Parts: sequence; C-alpha cells; structure tokens
Amino acid sequence: MKDDFNKLLFRSMTVADVPSIVAIEQQAFTCPWSTEAFINELTNNLFARYMVMELGGEIIGYGGMWIIMDEAHVTNIAVLSGYRGLGLGNRLLLELQRTAVFYGAAKMTLEVRVSNEIAQNLYRKHGFEPSGIRPRYYSDNDEDALIMWSELDQEELKAGEQ
Ligand SMILES: CC(C)(COP(=O)(O)OP(=O)(O)OC[C@H]1O[C@@H](n2cnc3c(N)ncnc32)[C@H](O)[C@@H]1OP(=O)(O)O)[C@@H](O)C(=O)NCCC(=O)NCCS
Repeated sequence: MKDDFNKLLFRSMTVADVPSIVAIEQQAFTCPWSTEAFINELTNNLFARYMVMELGGEIIGYGGMWIIMDEAHVTNIAVLSGYRGLGLGNRLLLELQRTAVFYGAAKMTLEVRVSNEIAQNLYRKHGFEPSGIRPRYYSDNDEDALIMWSELDQEELKAGEQ
C-alpha cells in the first residue's frame, strides 16, 4: 500500500467533505466534533484552516488549526483507522506545519490526552515538547491534557520534504 502514497493529495477542507470527516472523527475520538461544529469552523471562523488528505479520491485523514498572529493551535488531527501506522500521520502533520508557516505562524501548540502515547510520539517526532498540563480538560473522563509546543522552522520543514 505504501507504493500508492506518492499519489497522496492534500487540499483545503470544504463543507462537502464534512460527512466523511465526521465519520473519521467519530471513529477516532471519544468526544467527536459534530457536523455543525465542522461547518461552523469552515464558514464562520476566519482563523481556522482545515486540510484533508486524500488517496484515490477517498478522504483518509484530516487536520485543522487556528492561526492567530504567529501561533498555530492544532484543533484536531486524525487518520482513518485502516491507514494508521503507515507514516500518514507524519505526512499530515508535516503538511499542517508547512501550511502554518505559509500563513505566518512561527510556533505551533496543541493539547493531547496524557494517555494518548501514539499521538505524543508523533508530536515529539515533529519537534513538539511538553509545556504543561490542563487538569481535567476532557469532559468524558476528566482526563488531563498535556500541552505541547513546537517552534516552526521554515528551512527545517523544507528539508523534511518527502
Ligand atoms: C495519532 C494519529 C493521527 C497518528 O497517525 P498514524 O498515521 O498512525 O501515524 P504514523 O504512522 O505516521 O506514525 C507517526 C508516529 O507516531 C508514533 N506511532 C504511530 N503508531 C504508533 C504505535 N502503535 N505505538 C507507538 N507510537 C506510534 C510513532 O512515533 C510514529 O513515528 P515512526 O513512524 O517514526 O514510528 C492516528 O493514530 C490517529 O488518527 N489517532 C486517533 C486520533 C488521535 O488520537 N489524534 C490525536 C489527537 S491529539
């Protein structure tokens, strides 16, 4: 399957994508965002940038962020479950980082469940470091969020192109 990954396409998310996105969101998160939440992000939030990752016309991942001044705050990132562990999360996060730089961000932050070691590994690999805890951030189980930050180095991101 990895041979096909040179056919990956990254593009901006549109309202027409939302049903596919919500299906992945529900599979990926215990507190998934609703259809309305995504539509609101795409139509009312001037700071929001959402991207989809497509393979052969199928949406297999997405990620989004709010870019405010020189800071990009990642809101969500997910890969369709059958495609995980194949390097696609890496590709998606790299694309988000490059897009953030394009829009003028110099650093990137996010929250991640303290139990989500896979995502934390992904973020560490892309230069994120822990910077604090938001206690009981997740309402479903009162789990703490780890806050992570990364500096976005434009030259380094270019060098990492695949
Ligand atoms: C987090 C997520 C996006 C990663 O996507 P992915 O396509 O599986 O990630 P990749 O295959 O590109 O792996 C990227 C890195 O993640 C880490 N990772 C991936 N799978 C892992 C596993 N099973 N165990 C430990 N670390 C793992 C590794 O550091 C890996 O780097 P490597 O390729 O050098 O080993 C995906 O697991 C997902 O959608 N999870 C559900 C939603 C979620 O938790 N999102 C993050 C919310 S903060």
